[in-house]
Amino acid sequence: MKNYAHEYALSVNNPSKYWLEQSSNIAWSKTPTRGCSYNWESTKGTIFTEWFADGELNITVSCLDKHAQNTPEKVALLWQGEQSDNVHTYTYKQLLEAVCQCAHMLTNLGIKTGDIIALFMPMIPETYIATLACARIGAVHSIIFSGLSAHALATRLNDLKAQTLITAASAVRNGKNIPLLDSARQARACSPSITKTVVINHDEQSSLESDEYNWHTEINNLPKTFEPVIRHAEDALFILYTSGSTGKPKGLVHTCGGYILYASMTHKQVFDIQPEDVYWCTADIGWITGHSYGLYGPLSNGCTSILFEGVPTYPQPDRYWQIIQKYRVTKFYTAPTVIRLLAQAGTKWLEPYDLSSLKILGSVGEPLDPTSWQWYHTHVGKNRCHIVDTWWQTETGGVMLCALPGEHKTQAGTVGQPFYGIKPTLVSATEDRSITDLCITQPWPGIARTIFNDHDAYAKTYFTAHSGMYTSGDGAFLDHDNYVITGRIDDVLNVSGHRISSAEIEGAIVKHPTCAEAAVVGQPHPIKGEGIAAFVVLSADCIETAKLLDEINLCLRSCIGPIAKVDFLYVVEGLPKTRSGKVMRRILRKIVHGTTDIVGLGDISTLLNPEIISEIINKIIHG
Ligand code: WTA
Repeated sequence: MKNYAHEYALSVNNPSKYWLEQSSNIAWSKTPTRGCSYNWESTKGTIFTEWFADGELNITVSCLDKHAQNTPEKVALLWQGEQSDNVHTYTYKQLLEAVCQCAHMLTNLGIKTGDIIALFMPMIPETYIATLACARIGAVHSIIFSGLSAHALATRLNDLKAQTLITAASAVRNGKNIPLLDSARQARACSPSITKTVVINHDEQSSLESDEYNWHTEINNLPKTFEPVIRHAEDALFILYTSGSTGKPKGLVHTCGGYILYASMTHKQVFDIQPEDVYWCTADIGWITGHSYGLYGPLSNGCTSILFEGVPTYPQPDRYWQIIQKYRVTKFYTAPTVIRLLAQAGTKWLEPYDLSSLKILGSVGEPLDPTSWQWYHTHVGKNRCHIVDTWWQTETGGVMLCALPGEHKTQAGTVGQPFYGIKPTLVSATEDRSITDLCITQPWPGIARTIFNDHDAYAKTYFTAHSGMYTSGDGAFLDHDNYVITGRIDDVLNVSGHRISSAEIEGAIVKHPTCAEAAVVGQPHPIKGEGIAAFVVLSADCIETAKLLDEINLCLRSCIGPIAKVDFLYVVEGLPKTRSGKVMRRILRKIVHGTTDIVGLGDISTLLNPEIISEIINKIIHG
């Protein structure tokens, strides 16, 4: 057990020194001598953050070569398919060889250092292999969540202007085959930059198109070694899209040096990683948790991890418990929405299983409410496991707040204390004074350096509300020394831990011919945490039909994907707007959270149409 207070003080008092010391755990080709330089005040010029600027490395050396040399026969990946007997393991040696072969395949296809490669892939080992192969050849990967629709994929491909797409014929979900290649083909039809598509698990019987390459044929017999391409610490490692306040998804750019160090060190400490651990992070690789704690963190720490292609409830709600027992999982990381879903299914599903291997139980993505915390602690952890609720974001690269095992006691409903080097502060929000913005006052290595193609939006989104600080977009308060997250304070929804922008959903709703205007906000939901509440104004002469909700959800499915679904639909006469025509979602949010008297809604004097409020409240109360 370390002394948190002592180490924390060192880490925040001299961050450059602290992180340079920590960086010796990473395999550098050229050891950095420079720590951090940055400017977070727009009045002083361009916003930027740099770490280890004179360092050089290829991150796959830390993730693969190091362990292939030291522990070649140790299992790196244990892949479990949806069918119980569908299992594949890779030792560190085998994984390195597979990545090298894939690196050859990519270079044979003409891909060069610095090129951007898009991946639209399911939870299979080849997704990890392709991602690491991109890093091996110094290309920038952008993994697009395979649950998104063709339209959403095309939007991201067009922003990236990528030339190569790697995809799979299909993904398996709930016993069904999801035809990924069909979506990829549809997306490609509106993404002219894509000139090559590599397809894995393609059924030999059906034919590929002229610019499509069969992974298996291309990779066959390629050499199993590939010299890593050395990158500068500040070169981009990947771009990952997430939702912001506007309808346009943001491609956050993470760098090689700072990101790998932060992902690696947080993973090691948050899960107290030991050589014998069997670690399982259930997050999809298409999100940041899958990147930092499914792929990069565990591999850089030489860990054995599980990769599961399936869902927690198929064929029955005991799937996760079965896997934990089968592989003797010691550290488990999942999301509150999964915990609520499995808690609702009942303890009868986990009682038959031996979960005694578990030691640390993690949670991420949304607030872990005290009832779910208790259930997780009592029934899964049998009152002996440390629960670590971790707060962080796509932008932060790794965990920022948590109760470190061996250092802090967990307290239900809170996300604990800052990780080493993280200096949070609470500042009164500019828009609504009753809320405090959670901000970070100094840089850490894992912070995203920019939004791809839009550095102005990056500076504006994160560094203008409070000059000199990173503004997270979340509200928070302190309960003694522990932070409590109150949720997003911008127009971002958090549905089952998925970030979705209100504007993106509204844009999809008004594609429905009878919907003239829409405003969406998050409404408490028993499983999803936050469900989508849509306030819709119909076009003149249109009436609400029984099928409207289903039809709207079809629009959402095709524009965004099945993760976006309206849970609560309110057809109203008008939306509350300011005199300049801006919809006041803040008022709608308060109403769906249960404020039904006008006084409780705060200042509505700037509204153009205050009379609409009583009508909306009536609609919520009386349906
Ligand atoms: C929310 C996921 C409460 C928060 C790693 C944040 C949380 C957003 C927690 C980021 C938590 C994440 N407690 N809220 N432990 N963890 N959030 O970018 O609103 O997909 O801003 O990154 O999820 O979501 P993202």
